[in-house]
Amino acid sequence: MSSTGKGILADRHALVTGASSGIGLAVARGLAEAGAAVAVNYHSDGEAACQLVSEIRAGGGQAIALEGDVSREDEVRRLFEEARGAFGRLDLLVANAGIQKDAGIAEMTLAEWQAVLEVNLTGQFLCCREAIRLFREQKDQPRPARALGSIVCMSSVHEVIPWAGHANYAASKGGSKLLTQSLAQEVAPERIRVNAVAPGAIRTPINRESWETPEALQRLLRLIPYGRIGEPEDVARAVTWLCSDEADYVTGTTLFVDGGMTLYPGFAGNG
Ligand code: NAI
Ligand code: BGC
Repeated sequence: MSSTGKGILADRHALVTGASSGIGLAVARGLAEAGAAVAVNYHSDGEAACQLVSEIRAGGGQAIALEGDVSREDEVRRLFEEARGAFGRLDLLVANAGIQKDAGIAEMTLAEWQAVLEVNLTGQFLCCREAIRLFREQKDQPRPARALGSIVCMSSVHEVIPWAGHANYAASKGGSKLLTQSLAQEVAPERIRVNAVAPGAIRTPINRESWETPEALQRLLRLIPYGRIGEPEDVARAVTWLCSDEADYVTGTTLFVDGGMTLYPGFAGNG
């Protein structure tokens, strides 16, 4: 449903980071279908972001594409200023942007460690901080939702599942979990909600080598009790719900969207 209709996010204004591919793209599309106006942040792929914006507008929705690196304080400030300049206000942030730079611990360079922490964790800190500042500035304005503002951080099953060869990534998602919970605790009295979504294996460019051949997919499926790989839309539906008034009493929680990956599948046959 477009922003002119009566979707569960009608009259909301959202910013989705890393929205030019994969999960972020599906989330931006899903929020727009639920009636939100969406700022589609991209870092490298402006063409894909502009294509999504055209698609949303063609469906009667409202969208803009905004370039910006979430790990850079000045760029994050500008990103939020541009979103507010375009929409007049902001109600929703989905802090989705994330990267992997995988290596065994002895081979992992400091640059690989820092790059992942800076995008995945510092990026969420910078974006959440800016969103909360903006929500506070809007507190005396009439608002379209029960909450003053709502944030969803894109975590991962690796906020709880250790991941050898990916220590930087797992550390960033473990950090994201406690960032989400600590912020939720801090801003709940102001009616700002902060939650996380933790996807399992979702078919996107970040993990292409895990699903692009039948053999790799078979190996992956051994880790997924539900027996299929996730699609970006599986995550988008969960994020849309968390952003809506349907989830108004939900804050500080992580919603796992993982086909059971966190259920210790190795124990299914009596351990
Ligand atoms: P993806 O590679 O398709 O998307 C990542 C997006 O982040 C891209 O659009 C990229 O341009 C953007 N990005 C990277 N660095 C950025 C920066 N400095 N500033 C702004 N944007 C930047 O991969 P996917 O899977 O869609 O990943 C999205 C999020 O979902 C990430 O946080 C990832 O950790 C998380 N995730 C993915 C899972 C999966 O199985 N695909 C599972 C669990 C979590
Ligand atoms: C990673 C993917 C991986 C999935 C399940 C995600 O956080 O980005 O590469 O397939 O977790 O292990």
